[in-house]
Amino acid sequence: MGSKLGVNIDHVATLRQARQAAEPDPVHAAVLAELAGAQGITVHLRHDRRHIHERDVELLRRTVKTRLNVEMAATDEMIGILTRIRPDMCTLVPERPEEVTTTGGLNVIDHEAAVRSAIQALGGAGIRVSIFIDPDEAQIRRAAELGCRMIEINTGRYAELVPADLEHAPAAAWEEYERIRQTARLAVSLGLRVLAGHGLTYRNVMPIAMIGEIEELNIGHNIMARAVLVGLERAVREMIQLISD
Ligand code: PXP
Repeated sequence: MGSKLGVNIDHVATLRQARQAAEPDPVHAAVLAELAGAQGITVHLRHDRRHIHERDVELLRRTVKTRLNVEMAATDEMIGILTRIRPDMCTLVPERPEEVTTTGGLNVIDHEAAVRSAIQALGGAGIRVSIFIDPDEAQIRRAAELGCRMIEINTGRYAELVPADLEHAPAAAWEEYERIRQTARLAVSLGLRVLAGHGLTYRNVMPIAMIGEIEELNIGHNIMARAVLVGLERAVREMIQLISD
């Protein structure tokens, strides 16, 4: 059956913010990703607004035709913004100001109160709530107990252990893969829908896509990295044509 694809377009906003310019616009990127067949668009609205801004989420809310998923920390500020904008779905993630990207799943056992109130507030506004979580049995059981109906399993450690293909990866990579498979199965048996993501690439994605319980993969960095390279030649040719005519 295969997995659906949610495309994370944060990097388009990162490039825009590198010049604090108007382009490239993540809204345009979302349109192209959907035209190419993406089944969802994901952005992370961070406290420091380093890439995606509220304006982007507002416009994406009005333009995305598939499913808009906003990653967010479980804070009052984010709950206020997102219950106003009402994306289709929010994914609760841990957020540390100094991190380059999300590191590790949200510890729902340590942050039970914040998770519970985020699920209630967002759910009350008609927003589906998912939690980004490590492939850990205790964490997944607690997420289900807290009323969560959907999780995104963190594949970050798997991706670190599998830079190329799983077949030639060390035993630790196979163990991590097995952990993801088992916890996906457990989650479904607890009534949860299961997504996965972080660090997935064109090289290491296949074994994860083959896990039947995982409905959808969220991929950002590697798709954007490839887009820059496969699109560069055409962009240069177009500029040469423009200035040489
Ligand atoms: N899932 C979550 C919760 C994330 O925070 C990210 C990165 O923003 C991704 C998936 C996508 O990870 P990557 O950019 O490595 O594909």
